Amino acid sequence: MTLRFAPPTNPTFTPDARIAEINIDPGFGQFFSDHMALADWNSETGWTNDRITAYGLLPMEPAGAVLHYAQEVFEGLKAYRHADGSVWLFRPDANARRLQESSRRMALPVLPVDDFLTSVHNLVALDERWVPHAAEQSLYIRPFIIANESFLGVRSAHDVIYCCITGPVGAYFKGGVQPVDIWVSRQYSRVANGGTGTAKCGGNYASSLLAQEVAYANGCSQVLFTDNAEHEFVEELGGMNFLLLTKDGELVTPPLNGNILPGITRDSLLKLAPLLGLTPVERPTRIADVYDGITAGDIVELLACGTAAVITPVGSLRDSETNTVYRPLRPEAPQGIALRNLLLDIQYGRVADPFGWTERVV
Ligand code: PLP
Ligand code: COI
Repeated sequence: MTLRFAPPTNPTFTPDARIAEINIDPGFGQFFSDHMALADWNSETGWTNDRITAYGLLPMEPAGAVLHYAQEVFEGLKAYRHADGSVWLFRPDANARRLQESSRRMALPVLPVDDFLTSVHNLVALDERWVPHAAEQSLYIRPFIIANESFLGVRSAHDVIYCCITGPVGAYFKGGVQPVDIWVSRQYSRVANGGTGTAKCGGNYASSLLAQEVAYANGCSQVLFTDNAEHEFVEELGGMNFLLLTKDGELVTPPLNGNILPGITRDSLLKLAPLLGLTPVERPTRIADVYDGITAGDIVELLACGTAAVITPVGSLRDSETNTVYRPLRPEAPQGIALRNLLLDIQYGRVADPFGWTERVV
């Protein structure tokens, strides 16, 4: 059955003046728009009861399975306001498909791509007034699926909720696009071989939080995780993919080895790189070689990328075992910033969209 996600008949909205006040400095993930999309799934009936309601509490009992066994998946995408006032999504079909892959891995029901897109379009259209007008701001969209069966046996739930919320955001990091310092974890792993690394599921983030605390305690703002077996190969950050630029113009990122989230920003940058004369390369990369490359001047820029972070220059890597700090030649990452600007220009409609990635909402 096709889901409609019909808007409520009498929606109520936050006054525009209050939204404008929030959008002066929305931060990240602190404010939420007036409505949310919802649908229920039951193993007998499939997806039903699709609706858009006022943003509010979810119907959940303390025995709800997600609270105990973390059976859940989520997505993150953004809506961008163009100069003419129109509102656009960036590759939402890719998020829809990744949510499906994540759901399969977490033994959750798969939401059809078209239903996902309908929910996002209708919700963003309804709460369009929440999409910020300022540069570097957007409406963050957080779709998620959670197990909601009141049952403590360990098996995949027979009742599930799909929900999508949105909220205005600015830069993910407090300093904006200032270079961030990264803690290289050679002790903790966030995912394991055969585990859930390619799924966007809450557990991967829960398991990253202690390392993140250690990073904060050491003056760093994210963790770069290495492979869980030997802690020798670079994988990704707690909430972003990792790339580096060589002096020969190679844009290098680790291959999707089964433990790395297939980032949509990562994929987009690999496709955009040739437009800036860079060569995209996916290759396994030892952390020791990253350190040597930085020291020798062969690796000149380090980058973190993701929907929330866009592209953020990595100003330094600090090794958790040796406490040595490695700073690339160009911590401000000018080439990375050029890539960032190209991506943002496409997302905000300032240049032609060479790959047909953007999709208009209103
Ligand atoms: N890796 C992790 C662990 C993430 O949480 C994210 C953010 O979604 C990414 C990478 C980047 O993915 P995307 O570019 O699709 O946002
Ligand atoms: C995103 O970039 O959308 C993320 O999900 C990363 C983080 C905020 C969880």
